[in-house]
Amino acid sequence: MAVLVLYATKTGATEQCVKILAEEISNCTICNIEMEKPNIKDFDRIILGAGVRDGKIYKPIRDFIKKNHTELLEKRVGYFICNEKPKETEEIIERNIPADLKEAAICIESFGGYKAYAAPKEGSDKLKGIFLDKIKAFSEQFMK
Ligand SMILES: Cc1cc2nc3c(=O)[nH]c(=O)nc-3n(C[C@H](O)[C@H](O)[C@H](O)COP(=O)(O)O)c2cc1C
Repeated sequence: MAVLVLYATKTGATEQCVKILAEEISNCTICNIEMEKPNIKDFDRIILGAGVRDGKIYKPIRDFIKKNHTELLEKRVGYFICNEKPKETEEIIERNIPADLKEAAICIESFGGYKAYAAPKEGSDKLKGIFLDKIKAFSEQFMK
């Protein structure tokens, strides 16, 4: 089974989450959407992850969802976001993931994130603000 993890990050929280996901899901293909645009036809299952600014998930992933809406409905898909305010998570998901894709998703989760303008500096804890237990639970659910 071919698994793609496709993500967009600005300050690195989403990338840290992807690294942990990759430890949980063996042999997955990881792509930073800014570096390459994979063909989703090559994959059976897909995880899409992005950071959030001003209530919106990062544009490359938003555009990817828009462009591949029909194909995504035919795949097994999980979505995650990285954001700092848990109270906003439900609304962000509501606003950024179309209802039919949300309905069809295996799992959707926020893994937490860095406080705005306070991303960890070089040498400090890059997992600050990230919920490791949520990444583990997401991976288990996704691979069932
Ligand atoms: C300008 C700016 C706007 C943000 N807006 C939101 C927001 O609307 N809701 C929220 O929960 N977090 C917000 N955040 C926090 C980010 O989602 C958080 O820092 C996350 O770690 C970003 O993901 P990344 O590190 O992968 O880029 C914002 C951060 C910045 C810098």
